Amino acid sequence: MSSLRRTTSAAAALVIAASCLVLGSTPAPALENGLLRTPPMGFNNWNSTQCRAEFNETMIKGIADIFVSKGLKDVGYTYVNIDDCWALPSRNSAGNLVPDPARFPSGIKALADYVHAKGLKFGIYTSAGTKTCNTAGFPGALGHEQQDANLFASWGVDYLKYDNCNNQGVDAQQRYKAMRDALAKTGRPIAYSICEWGQTKPWTWAEPVGNLWRTTGDISDRWSSMIGKAQANRGLAQYAGPGHWNDPDMLEVGNGGMTTTEYRTHFSLWAMMAAPLLIGSDLRKVSADDFAILKNTDVIALDQDPLGKQATVLSANAGLVVYSKVLANGDRAVALSNETAATATISTTASATGIGSASSYTLKDLWSKAVRTTTGTISASVPSHATVLYRVSRAGGAARFEAESASLSAGGTIDANHAGYSGTGFANGANAVGSYVEWQVTGPASTLTFGFANGTTAARPVDISVDGTVVAAAVPFPPTGAWTTWSTVARPISLANGPHTIRLTATTDGGPANLDYLDVSP
Ligand code: GCU
Repeated sequence: MSSLRRTTSAAAALVIAASCLVLGSTPAPALENGLLRTPPMGFNNWNSTQCRAEFNETMIKGIADIFVSKGLKDVGYTYVNIDDCWALPSRNSAGNLVPDPARFPSGIKALADYVHAKGLKFGIYTSAGTKTCNTAGFPGALGHEQQDANLFASWGVDYLKYDNCNNQGVDAQQRYKAMRDALAKTGRPIAYSICEWGQTKPWTWAEPVGNLWRTTGDISDRWSSMIGKAQANRGLAQYAGPGHWNDPDMLEVGNGGMTTTEYRTHFSLWAMMAAPLLIGSDLRKVSADDFAILKNTDVIALDQDPLGKQATVLSANAGLVVYSKVLANGDRAVALSNETAATATISTTASATGIGSASSYTLKDLWSKAVRTTTGTISASVPSHATVLYRVSRAGGAARFEAESASLSAGGTIDANHAGYSGTGFANGANAVGSYVEWQVTGPASTLTFGFANGTTAARPVDISVDGTVVAAAVPFPPTGAWTTWSTVARPISLANGPHTIRLTATTDGGPANLDYLDVSP
C-alpha cells in the first residue's frame, strides 16, 4: 500500500514538474519581452504595393476591415503592419518622423487606433540606417533610436520591422541592439523584427536581440524565389523557438505570380518552418482559392503549435524533400515536397519522424482533409511543385522505443551478442554508478515497461527520471537467469501529452541491466 501511494504521489509531482519544465524551457538569454511565443500572423503591404501611391490609409483600413469581416482575425491573423514609404523625407523641427499627409491624412496614431478598435495590432517600419531603402530617402533611425522608438510607442505601435539599408557600415549587432534597448525603454511591448537579410547570420546572435530575424534577402512572387527562401531557411531549425523565429520573409499567397499548387507549397513550408505568416497580398483583390489557403486552420495550427519547433529535413534527394515537425501533443507533421518539374513518389516512415513505434498511425492530409491509417509507411505521389502535408498520430496501443535508438552515457554500447532481443540490438550500459540510458518518448502514458536481461545474480537498480526529475529511485532490475533470458519491469506513471526524456541511471557499480526497449502505454 505504501509503495502504491508513493508511486501515485510521485506521478502527480511529475505532471507538475513536467509542465513547469515546459514553461521554463526557453534558454535564459532570449529576448525577454514576452512577445511572439508563436510566430507572428498578420499582414504587411510591401509585397503587393511596394512604394506605390495605392499604399495609403484607405488601403490599410480596408485590410483591417477584411481581417474581421472575412474571418482572418478568427483564425489568428493579428498584426496589420505597414512598410517603407509611410513618412515624409524630412524630420520636423523637433527631429521627429512625420507621416506623409498625402498617404496618411489622419496620421499614424489615428490609424493605429482604428486597427486597435478592431481587436488587432499595428506594426510599423524603419531602417537601422541613416535612411530607409527607398530612393526617395526617408529618414532611418540610426542615431535616432530612442526618439523614434518613443514616437512609435506614443502612437500605439505593437511591432517594428527594422531594415538594414544605408547602415553606414556600423556593426549589425550594435545597430540592432540599440533599437532593442530603445524599444524596451519605452515600456510598451513592441514585437521586434530584425530585417538584416541574413547577412551576418543573425540566427547565431539575435536570440537575445529580436523576436524574429530575416534569414534571406527579399522574396518575390515567383516559384524560384519562394523555394530558394525555403531552401536557405530550412537548415536553421535549431535556432527557432518561442519568442525567437527564423524569418524567410513574407507570404506572396494571393499576389498572382504562382499557381495555387505553388502557393499551397509556400504556405505549407512556412507553417512547417514556424515562419511568420504575414500576408503580403492586397486582400481586397485575393481570389477565393488563395483565401482558402490563408485560412486553412489545420496548416495554421502547425505554424502556431505551442511547442514552437521548426521542422527539420529528414531527407532531400534531387528536389524531393521530406520535412518533419514535432508537435506539442506528440503528433508529427510531415511534408512531402516536390521541387522538381515532374510528378514523383516521395516516401518516409513514421519511425523516421521519431514518433515512436505503434501498431498503426493516422495520417490526416491537411489540404484534402482525407484521413487514412498506415502501419508505418508515409508515401504519396506528389505533383510537380506540390507539397503533401500530413498530421501523423499514433493510432493507439503501446509505442515501443528501442534501446538501440536511445542515448548512452560514456562507455555504453549497443550490442547484439545475446539473442532474444527485439529490434536490432540492446543497450549495454557501462558498469558504473551514474551510467545511464536515455530515451526521447512521446506522452501521454500511464505505464512505462522496460525490456531487459540480467545474467548476474544481483539486481541492477536504477533511478528512473522524467524530464530531469527522479520519479522512482533505485528500482531493482532482478536477475533473469541468463543474459539471453529477457524479462520486463513495468512502472505506473502519469506522463502528460507531448515529448519527454526518460532516463535510467544506475545506482550501483554494476551499471544498468542490459536494456532492450521501452514501451510507452497510454
Ligand atoms: C557481460 C555480458 C554483457 C553485460 C555485462 C554486464 O559482459 O555479456 O552483455 O552487459 O556482462 O555485467 O553488464
